[in-house]
Amino acid sequence: MVPTRQQALALFKQYNQSESLYKHALSVEAVMRHFANKYNEDEEKWGIIGLMHDVDYEQFPEEHCIKAKEILEKEQWPEDYIRAILSHAYDICTDVEPVHLMEKILYATDELTGLVTTAALVRPDKSIHSLKLKSMKKRWKDKRFAAKVDRSIITDGAQRLNMDLDELILETIEGMKTVAKELGLNGVSNE
Ligand SMILES: [Fe+2]
Ligand SMILES: [Fe+2]
Repeated sequence: MVPTRQQALALFKQYNQSESLYKHALSVEAVMRHFANKYNEDEEKWGIIGLMHDVDYEQFPEEHCIKAKEILEKEQWPEDYIRAILSHAYDICTDVEPVHLMEKILYATDELTGLVTTAALVRPDKSIHSLKLKSMKKRWKDKRFAAKVDRSIITDGAQRLNMDLDELILETIEGMKTVAKELGLNGVSNE
């Protein structure tokens, strides 16, 4: 069954209560949609995969991806959707290597969205719209900043894409801007 976004979101909400995980899901969805458009690929498919990649994380952090596979197989999701979702955690909790473009983008941007969010939130205006590459590069180098964000995965992802890290960062910011309000990154007034 090819899921609609509405079905995917309902399933996500069935397994997740956390606001921060929801925002993370929306961030990755927006970035996936942005890149799908850039490459003339299936925006809806890429977006849904981004939205659902951490579906099991809240309830089964110790069995991350294993449970996602179970949940999505039970819903009879297509194999390539499930494969892509598993590949985001390659070498951490799965051995499914990101091979397709869609998978490589997911793998490369998942952690990066966290760094972008934190970098935007510490700005005086708390806005993603004024977040510049220069400031991101500074945050990138400061290993204590958003310490949980594993920079090595992002670098590995960029290499797999043959993409310059700066470009990856800029495009990720652009993608996230499309849902800035939902993410609470639209500036102090968040309007
Ligand atoms: Fe994950
Ligand atoms: Fe994630």
